[in-house]
Amino acid sequence: MKHHITATINGDACEFLCDTEQTLLDVLRDELGLTGSKEGCGSGDCGACSVRLDGRLVCACLVLGCEVEGCTVETIEGIAAGRQLHPLQQTFLNEAALQCGICTPGIIVAAKALLEKNPDPSEEEIRFWLAGNLCRCTGYDKIVRAVQQAAAVMRSA
Ligand code: FES
Ligand code: FES
Repeated sequence: MKHHITATINGDACEFLCDTEQTLLDVLRDELGLTGSKEGCGSGDCGACSVRLDGRLVCACLVLGCEVEGCTVETIEGIAAGRQLHPLQQTFLNEAALQCGICTPGIIVAAKALLEKNPDPSEEEIRFWLAGNLCRCTGYDKIVRAVQQAAAVMRSA
């Protein structure tokens, strides 16, 4: 039996049908065409699927689609303001803070949550916050620099 779910996704009222066992990540990618969130592990270990659920940072692979009834979800697709990139997206480009890009959407979603909570994080705080977001390409230094630069841009805005 399919469940009929209503939620707000990236600011838009949204309805979808999902099976009981379908994860939020499956729903986003397979039912709603929001393929920005990636599946790295499917078990809550890599952070590639990070989204915000009622403001809380979660792994979409660990949430069931039918659990988001009435909730607000923000994915990487909701981060730019129209064609205007979010400062994090721009600084990731400037710093070349990605290679294969599988980890990048989750890291940007997670870093945005950090900067909303702490607009001026230390390097250590950035590394600690992003410890659940694994990247097997970049070595992390460029990612940390991109987050520091975005924080500076956002503080001066
Ligand atoms: S795919 Fe969800 S944490 Fe890895
Ligand atoms: S850029 Fe490839 S996993 Fe991070």
